[in-house]
Amino acid sequence: MGVRDDVARVLIEEAAIQRRVAELGAALNATYSDADRVLMVCVLKGAFMFLADLMRHVEVRHEMDFMETSSYGDRTVSSGVVRILLDLERSIEGRHVVIVEDIVDSGRTLDYITRNLATRRPASLRVCTLLSKPSRREIAVPLDWVGFEIPDEFVVGYGLDFAEQYRNLPFIGVLKEAIYAGRG
Ligand code: PRP
Repeated sequence: MGVRDDVARVLIEEAAIQRRVAELGAALNATYSDADRVLMVCVLKGAFMFLADLMRHVEVRHEMDFMETSSYGDRTVSSGVVRILLDLERSIEGRHVVIVEDIVDSGRTLDYITRNLATRRPASLRVCTLLSKPSRREIAVPLDWVGFEIPDEFVVGYGLDFAEQYRNLPFIGVLKEAIYAGRG
């Protein structure tokens, strides 16, 4: 049995993701048309696939750097505690920074990251997230670009995991409840 057998249904098809990612890339190009360079900050691990596809549509000169935070562990609900597991390699002072996230749920991770990065005096700081679950928000965080607003369902695929699995799926899917029951 492969990981696809654990998926109850596909919420966002691969082709729809790819179309939307291309639109987001075009939106970034328009916003930064006057900027020399942009720094795309990928929040690991979930956003790795989104960043890889998104940057192929970004024509503005850009570099990338990585941050890793943790809040969930193997659980399906946020613990509310955000830890930095990996910090940026370089200073962002004076840089135009785009935080690239896979999903904004409670908003706690992004709130922590944006407040933290703002103290490092970037020239600008914007957020591009593939997914947002507005109904779950506990902290209001400004989002500059959102791929899809989704309902409050536990989703995996296209970088998003459950217990570190399912990141490889090319679509966003909803897991069968039996897979995560009792572990939330
Ligand atoms: C996920 C996701 C966001 C965060 C969103 O990361 O990538 O960073 O949770 O949730 P929040 O809005 O409630 O804070 P996770 O901690 O699961 O790590 P991962 O990306 O490495 O899987």
